[in-house]
Amino acid sequence: MLLVGLGAVSTTTIAGVFAIRKGLAKPIGSLTQMGTIRLGKRTEGRSPRINEFVPLAQLDDIVFGGWDIFEEDCYAAARTAGVLERSLLDSVRDEMESIKPMPAVFDQRYVKRLSGPNVKTGKNKRDLAEQLIADIRGFKARHGCDRLVVVWCGSTEVFMKEGAVHQSLAAFEQGLEANDEAIPSSMVYAYAALKEGIPFANAAPNLTADIPAMLELAAQTKAPVAGNDMKTGQTLIKTVIAPGLKARMLGVRGWYSTNILGNRDGEVLDDPESFKTKEESKKSALDYIFQPQLYPDLYNDISHVVRINYYPPRGDNKEGWDNIDLFGWLGYPMQLKINFLCRDSILAAPIVLDSALFLDLAKRAGMSGIQEWLSFYFKAPMHAKDLYPEHDLFIQLMKLKNTLRHLMGEELITHLGREYYD
Ligand SMILES: NC(=O)c1ccc[n+]([C@@H]2O[C@H](COP(=O)([O-])OP(=O)(O)OC[C@H]3O[C@@H](n4cnc5c(N)ncnc54)[C@H](O)[C@@H]3O)[C@@H](O)[C@H]2O)c1
Repeated sequence: MLLVGLGAVSTTTIAGVFAIRKGLAKPIGSLTQMGTIRLGKRTEGRSPRINEFVPLAQLDDIVFGGWDIFEEDCYAAARTAGVLERSLLDSVRDEMESIKPMPAVFDQRYVKRLSGPNVKTGKNKRDLAEQLIADIRGFKARHGCDRLVVVWCGSTEVFMKEGAVHQSLAAFEQGLEANDEAIPSSMVYAYAALKEGIPFANAAPNLTADIPAMLELAAQTKAPVAGNDMKTGQTLIKTVIAPGLKARMLGVRGWYSTNILGNRDGEVLDDPESFKTKEESKKSALDYIFQPQLYPDLYNDISHVVRINYYPPRGDNKEGWDNIDLFGWLGYPMQLKINFLCRDSILAAPIVLDSALFLDLAKRAGMSGIQEWLSFYFKAPMHAKDLYPEHDLFIQLMKLKNTLRHLMGEELITHLGREYYD
């Protein structure tokens, strides 16, 4: 598993897998490791664990590597991130210290608040992509890996819109050669991975793999892709609560979300251009869940505000507040307040693991391009051009599990259940 950016999320994922392998902790939050899947009728009593039902890579078989603009090894990076306790990190110290970041493809133009020494130089972006491909091949050979997955866990890049250079693979490759400004570092990584036919996930909101050029490449090399932006704290709760309100036809006038966080991610998001990328990603979910075009009396003109405030004392332990102004029978107003004291990377790590394991499964199953069944894990799920994305967490879960049933030749579950009463 190659992770771009060995920061809070990546090191929490890696240290977690090492600790779990040693039996020191449990993979809480991971559907692949803890989830079960019902097969057949409710009367059959068949509910195997997902990792016993589908042939996923085992945690013991994973090797980790990655790139970062800082030179510190994974143990030091995890200490800097300050998510996990020192005692836990010390119990996996040797393994963590052995993972040293490869020099990154990085340009401060796309992440304004960061600069670091461990950065590649090259003639142009094509040359940098070729250096990444050499890194990938070298890693694979060094560790004797059968297969690879690449996950972007790097900082959120500045907001970008799809442009001419993104429209076809030929235009993109010319853009690499010409150092086109519309190709941020994340796209250079995605290109390198997909060129090698390696599954790629984007854990951040930046425009990366969801452009026609990348999808063309993914189709050519039969590589699966997923993203964008992991659904962890506030958005996870939003996509749990909002479908519930809508299911009961309760109206919503406004939804105000604010939070404080003090990690490096918070510092990067303090830059308005990176925040804009995050804001767009966070705001889309409600519109799609509420479908105001179908329910104008309930959800027209919702005032949806999202704020992220960088507040160093909290580190990775984010605190989020949501105020929901809703209304019921005859339009009578009510309020719902949610105060979530969450831990960002603790919620993110199982998503990185699960999406990597499922993408690897997809590759072996011959599924390439956008993996919409992995929408479950993302705030702004990738989707086909003419479709709207599915944001409802429960529909997403049903879709994911039905995809696994389908892959294994099991009957899909519709929840109709008439047969129990006939
Ligand atoms: N933690 C969460 O709950 C969560 C949820 C959704 C999305 N995300 C996103 O995941 C990403 C990682 O979050 P984090 O908390 O680990 O942040 P972090 O700042 O701790 O780590 C990001 C790392 O990426 C490195 N980096 C930046 N650009 C790079 C490049 N071009 N090449 C190689 N390395 C690069 C940085 O040096 C840093 O070490 C962020 O974009 C964040 O917005 C996090």
